[in-house]
Amino acid sequence: MKLPETFEPCDLVIFGGLGDLSRRKLLISLYRLEQGNFLEDDTRIIAVDRLDETSDSFIKIAHESLTNFLGDTVEDSLWQKFSARLAYQKMDLTQHDQYSVFNDITDSSQRVMVNYFAVAPFLFKHICQGLEKSGVLTDTSRMVMEKPIGHSLESSKEINDVVESVFKPHQAFRIDHYLGKETVLNLLALRFANSIFTTNWDHNTIESVQITVGEEVGIEGRWEYFDQTGQLRDMVQNHLLQILTFVAMEPPVNLEAQSIHNEKIKVLNALRPITLENVNEKTVRGQYTNGFQKGKAVPGYLEEEGANTESTTESFVALQVDIDNWRWSGVPFYLRTGKRMMNKRTEIVINFKKLPHNIFTESYRNLPENKLIIHLQPNEGIEIQMLNKIPGIDENIKLQKTKLDLSFSDTFKNSKIFGGYEKLILEAMRGNPTLFISREEIEQAWTWIDSIQDAWQHSKEEPKPYPAGTWGPTASVAMLARAGHDWED
Ligand code: BG6
Repeated sequence: MKLPETFEPCDLVIFGGLGDLSRRKLLISLYRLEQGNFLEDDTRIIAVDRLDETSDSFIKIAHESLTNFLGDTVEDSLWQKFSARLAYQKMDLTQHDQYSVFNDITDSSQRVMVNYFAVAPFLFKHICQGLEKSGVLTDTSRMVMEKPIGHSLESSKEINDVVESVFKPHQAFRIDHYLGKETVLNLLALRFANSIFTTNWDHNTIESVQITVGEEVGIEGRWEYFDQTGQLRDMVQNHLLQILTFVAMEPPVNLEAQSIHNEKIKVLNALRPITLENVNEKTVRGQYTNGFQKGKAVPGYLEEEGANTESTTESFVALQVDIDNWRWSGVPFYLRTGKRMMNKRTEIVINFKKLPHNIFTESYRNLPENKLIIHLQPNEGIEIQMLNKIPGIDENIKLQKTKLDLSFSDTFKNSKIFGGYEKLILEAMRGNPTLFISREEIEQAWTWIDSIQDAWQHSKEEPKPYPAGTWGPTASVAMLARAGHDWED
């Protein structure tokens, strides 16, 4: 697909413009895009929500959001330029007649209409039907859909059916903000632009792979949503499986969206199902109890604001995933993610196989294997752990573990590292679907996740407690130990 040489101006309509996502992420990302000079002069941003605000009061809200979440000072002249793009429209999204207002406030002859669905999924249907009824959509209009896209395979199909009854496949952009993260994208470069990795990336050289997405945050006022969702659906179904597909896929024919989707789908199809028979061996669920993070006491999951004290929802999950294909036969992929972990850390660890024979036994009885560690966040970078001779003229060769360390912020001092949302909003405005997820991927991921969820329900095992501020229940360490492996901590 040929992309436009220049970006087109857009009417970016944010449904749920006053919500958490909009305030914490979207507005901040749009401001950063302004800072990078990525927004076309005529692009406008229209926040839509049900509260009684005006464009003027929304502009104040947007300024407050930037002050709270930008992590930097809001530059005055930039703010003037940015705020001139902002407008607010009050609407009840369930009332389809009200959507006719878009005929007055957007202009498809001048700008591409990009509809961002930052609302609960039950509203997706209304937005699609309302927009269709208003007659405002054209072939260039687009929609961007936030997760969760459903709660299961069945509910995700319902959502996708409604969306596709109004938007054609090339108009529907399903977002996973992890796919916009610099370091996730760099996996393509690392794997397919460096022959040392392309030729050493399979069961012959790799012993195991670990993907950790540790979060420091707890439930942050979203107890009800989270309790119905759990960490498996909230994080594994999307972010972790997407990272896994980037690590495990075959080289795509080129960088076009379809080529990448084709390879990702093959990986998702090859995931060995986890069922009632193997669920206890392949999964660990956990729930945090009260504890300490950075020296501060924090409550347990069941003591959070709004909690149902009987809940058995997991806030931690560890999985052993087997990929049944030629490349990965016999290589376990360990996935781990949880709330209120020791710290925020997202990383991929590629553990290479042990050497067949050790000629350094006098100084090192067991040679540790090489590791490639990809730090996705924070402190983006790549590290290779290897053994080196300690310089010296002693008769014995003495070895020491060392690392080749490539920190992105040191190496690319003059390049700004943008966040996932910045990149993806820009790509949606540009009409480039490469970094978005296809319907097929989402449905395949749900099929695999539903089976685990089902097995948990039938196994009746309660989640294992773990104190906040740790790396989860000890059972997750035991799961790896059974295969002679351990987590990189
Ligand atoms: C969201 C989840 O998709 O990702 C949240 O719903 C989670 O529960 C968040 O906290 C993590 O994103 P990031 O970019 O902070 O790692």
